[in-house]
Parts: sequence; structure tokens; C-alpha cells
Amino acid sequence: MCGIVGYVGSVVPSSRPQDVVLEGLGRLEYRGYDSAGIALVRPGAGHVEVAKKSGKLINLREELAAHPSADATAAIGHTRWATHGRPSDVNAHPHQALDGKLAVIHNGIIENFFKLRTELAAQGIVFTSETDTEVAAHLLGQEFLATGDLTQAMRSVAQRLEGTFTLLAVHADQPDTVVGARHDSPLVVGLGNGENFLGSDVSAFISHTREALELGQDEIVTITPNSVEVINFAGEPVELNRYTVDWDAAAAEKGGYWSFMAKEIDDQPQAVADTLLGRVDENGDLILDDLRIDESVLRAIDKIIVVACGTAAYAGHVAKYAIEHWCRIPVEVELAHEFRYRDPIVTTRTLVVAISQSGETMDTLMAVRHAQEQGAKVIAIVNTHGSTIPREADAVLYTHAGPEIAVASTKAFVSQITATYLLGLYFAQLRGNMFRDEIQKMLAELREMPGKIREVLERAGRVKEIAHWMADTSSVLFLGRHTGFPIALEGALKLKELAYIHAEGFAAGELKHGPIALIEPGLPVFVIVPSPRGRGLLHSKVISNIQEIRARGARTLVIAEDGDTAVEAFADEVFWVPQAPTLLSPLLNVVPLQIFAAELARAKGLDVDQPRNLAKSVTVE
Ligand code: F6R
Repeated sequence: MCGIVGYVGSVVPSSRPQDVVLEGLGRLEYRGYDSAGIALVRPGAGHVEVAKKSGKLINLREELAAHPSADATAAIGHTRWATHGRPSDVNAHPHQALDGKLAVIHNGIIENFFKLRTELAAQGIVFTSETDTEVAAHLLGQEFLATGDLTQAMRSVAQRLEGTFTLLAVHADQPDTVVGARHDSPLVVGLGNGENFLGSDVSAFISHTREALELGQDEIVTITPNSVEVINFAGEPVELNRYTVDWDAAAAEKGGYWSFMAKEIDDQPQAVADTLLGRVDENGDLILDDLRIDESVLRAIDKIIVVACGTAAYAGHVAKYAIEHWCRIPVEVELAHEFRYRDPIVTTRTLVVAISQSGETMDTLMAVRHAQEQGAKVIAIVNTHGSTIPREADAVLYTHAGPEIAVASTKAFVSQITATYLLGLYFAQLRGNMFRDEIQKMLAELREMPGKIREVLERAGRVKEIAHWMADTSSVLFLGRHTGFPIALEGALKLKELAYIHAEGFAAGELKHGPIALIEPGLPVFVIVPSPRGRGLLHSKVISNIQEIRARGARTLVIAEDGDTAVEAFADEVFWVPQAPTLLSPLLNVVPLQIFAAELARAKGLDVDQPRNLAKSVTVE
């Protein structure tokens, strides 16, 4: 949601502030937005120049081309995902105060905006938009008049606002300065040479610098071309936490693919391999260096609760099967927003595992805080460095999927599952639940998975063909048992998100308790068949389920492992995947379902990278 870019510098050419900010906004498009705007500060101009347009970034680019502006030294830019006030030119950011001398952009929700707006209106301030952000702009204007210092003014305003916010501001009288404030919304600093950057995430400035600074909760940053200063909301200086981003601009580009989604599906073998990298020492034992939690605390854990949302929660469901099997610790999986508000039973012996690609999902962050308040330790499984959840968690296990640009998650999902396997095997090692050779055998199997995912990708021709034939389908069901169940849920979610088709995932055993009423002749039903080499009973139960739906006329599209001859007789179509241990099979079974959803959406002419109404990083509750 909402993308933010800030730039200050005196680097040639003179169009650089505008170019950098527009490029950054382009790279943040994936977060989801409905309008875009920019503010440019030109020394001596006496006011900040603002352009903003509803709709895609191209509208803003056209507006700027019609009214060119050069010689700016600072700029801030914004892509808006509407909360207060419909998407329109007027409601787009930046918002201005002090007769156009000051401009502000904002990500988040100001919860006390109505009270503040009423107070400001009583003082004679006239509002031009319906947004909560304009309140922050006018407050900042008042504080600037009182202090003459943008940083101090921002500090005063930040203390008065309730809710979540990242704010950036520029003032015409300080053409070499951009000030930002961060409270429960993301903001990172990019360090350049004679120029500095701000962004919602590092992709905003990745083509200019890979050197970055993490900003903490309740901090204010002031950037000039040659300095970066950070203070907290209390006004105290803050130690800077510098890091180098481990991917480059090419990783965040399509690289010849028809969509980011297609590229990210193909990136999955690498995402899994990179997530496994460096986690085993020379003796073959797991080392999870980032886990700063005392081993004695981890040994004493009597329950794990996974908190996450959407696809990340389905990764948690897969983890439940593996961790319970390997470690004999009960694992609960909760949607983060439900966990937070239902008074969950959490003790100091509960370990909470928060899974999030972005590390910024507000629901998950709130669940983390709630768990910590109850005395639980929290391990974060996160893909985005410098994001809020890993900063606040007690420990972090990073997935190394690289930047995930398509809004719907694919490579982050398989790397999240991989990280939970590592966590489960690490607990089994620590608590002695498995023999050393058993763990090493499973790790060896895990190392085979990138190659096997590659094989699934190479066999994708048929699933693509079928997706294109099925472009006018209006409903699809997905069935699975055991680890196939969360994959059925994920297959249905991908199809809903990307192709806007009604899709439902069910536990195959649940079918006869209701959903079987939905089966009618010709209805396509995907079935994920467990390995016959695993629990044979599970396999034969799913074969029976396929027969039940086939008898009622469903069209059965089956995912089965190589050599499973029993399924062929009951399937209208089989998508074969290589043999793998049952607990690891989700890494393979999900791939044909991702491809099916992406290709069907493509056949319908939809934008698979930015599906309607969705935001990549859901930073409001
Ligand atoms: C679905 C999808 C979402 C996210 C969910 C959590 O394709 O992408 O369901 O998985 O919004 O996001 P993160 O992982 O960033 O916390």
C-alpha cells in the first residue's frame, strides 16, 4: 500500500530529482495504488511545485511533460492506495500547507484525524481534500511557523498523531532537505554520493545505491545531499544501522518475461536454494545464526503458534504438518488478525512464529506485539530486510527469495515453507526428537527440491495449454488432504486473486460434509494426490474422493507424483511432479497451480502483476 520516495541532491542533470522519484515510484507500483503525485523544490521558487493525478503513473508523467520543471534539488513522490477519500486528483498526495510552501506525503492512517481536522477548521484552515493526510500537512505548517525548523516541526506533529504513518515533507525555504517520520509504517534510507534517498522499501532507490539504513519505530530522519541524521520522537540522536542490500536492480526487473509473476514462478528453484544456503556447518548440523533466542528457552517450548495472513498463513499450515511430525510440539496456525483479538492462550513457553514476505503486514505486526506482551518469544520468517516485523521480533530467519514484485505471492511462499522446514529440523536437532542421520537425510532431500521444482517448471506446457482453454470457466474447486490441503487453499487463492474466478479449496475429506453439493457435470476440480509411497491410506482415501466427484460429472485435474499409476484411471488430466517426501511435496504441488492461475489470467487479458483492489504490502489493519 502507498509507495513513498524522497530524494535530495545536487547531482547533474538538473532533472535528476524528478527522474529519480518517478523511477522510484515505478518500482513501487507493485505495492498497489490508485493515484500518484510528486513535489519538487526549486531554490528561490518561493513555493513547492506539485503535480498529482489519479490513475496510473503514466497520467502523472504526462502531466509533468506538459508542465516541465527543472533545477529542483529535492523531491518527494507518492503512490496512493485510498483509505480516507476516494481516488481522485485532489485526494492524491502531496498535500500542501502554508500557501504552497510546504508539501507532505503519507502512508498509513491517522486515526485522530477528525478531531484534529475539526480543531484546525475552527482556526480558519480551509481543507481542499477529504484525506487524513491534509491534516498532517496543516499541523506541520503551524509547527514550522512556530519553530522555523522542519525536523523539529515534524517531531512535534509526530507526537500529536495517532494511528500509523510514514510522513515525508519538504519546504520551499529548505531546498536541500527532506524530512521523514516513521511510526508503524515502513521507511528506509538510501545512501548516495552527494545525494541521499528515502523509500518505502529499497526497491525505490535500488538502481542508484545498495547502501541502506534501517529506520526504527518512532524515528525522524533528515536528509541533505551530504548528511543523514536520525533522532527519535523524544528528540534524542539514534545510532545508525547501515546494511548493504544483497540484490540489485536487475532482480527487480522482468528480464524478458511477460510478467513479474511468470519470472517469480521461474525464480522458485533459486529462492528455495538461497533460503537453504549457509544454514548447515561443516559437520552437517543446522546452524541458524540469526536465532538470538537462548537455546534453553527454545528447549522449554511447549507450543508453537504460527501467525500470518493469506498465502503466508498457508505456508504456516504446511509447517504445522512438518514441525509436529518432526518435533512432536503442538503447532497452531492462526490468521494474525484473528489471533490478536481473540484473547489467545500464550505463555512464556509459547513460541510465536510470524511469517511475512513484506515484514510490514500490520495484522501480523500487531499479533507479534500482542504475543510479546503476553511474554512469548517471537521468531520472524521474513523476506524483506529492514522491515518492521524482524526488527521487533526476538529473532529472525530470513527467506532469501529476492524482491517479490508481483502482488500475489509465489516465490516467497516456497521460501517461507523452506524456512519453516529448517526451523522444524533445527528444533528436532536441539530437542533430540530425531536422530542426527534422520535430520541429515531430510536436509539432503531438501537440497534436491530446487532441482525438482525446476523439473515441474519444465513440464508446465500442458497446464498452460489447459489454462488457456479454460479462460471462460466461472468456478473451480481444489481438493487435498494432509499437506495437500493448504496447497488446495493456496491454489484457490491464486485463481481468485489473479483471474477473478470463483474458486474454493477444501480438505478432500470434508467434501461429503457439504461441498459435494457444488459438484455438477463439467465442473473443473483440481485434486492434489499424496504420494502412494507415504501413508498408503492417505493416498487411497484421495483416490476414493476423486471417484466420488467423477461419478457426479466433475472434470478431474490431478496433481500426482511420477509412477503413481493408480490415479490415471480416474483423472481427466494428470500433471506429474517428481517423487518427493510427503512433507516436502508442497514445494512441488503448488507450482502447477500457480502457473494455471497466472496463465488463465493472462488468457483473460488481466494484469497478473497488479490484480484489482490488492496491495502488496498491507500496512493497515
Ligand atoms: C497472496 C498474497 C497475500 C499475502 C498476505 C501476507 O498471493 O500475497 O495473501 O501473502 O497479504 O503478506 P506478507 O507475507 O507480506 O505478510
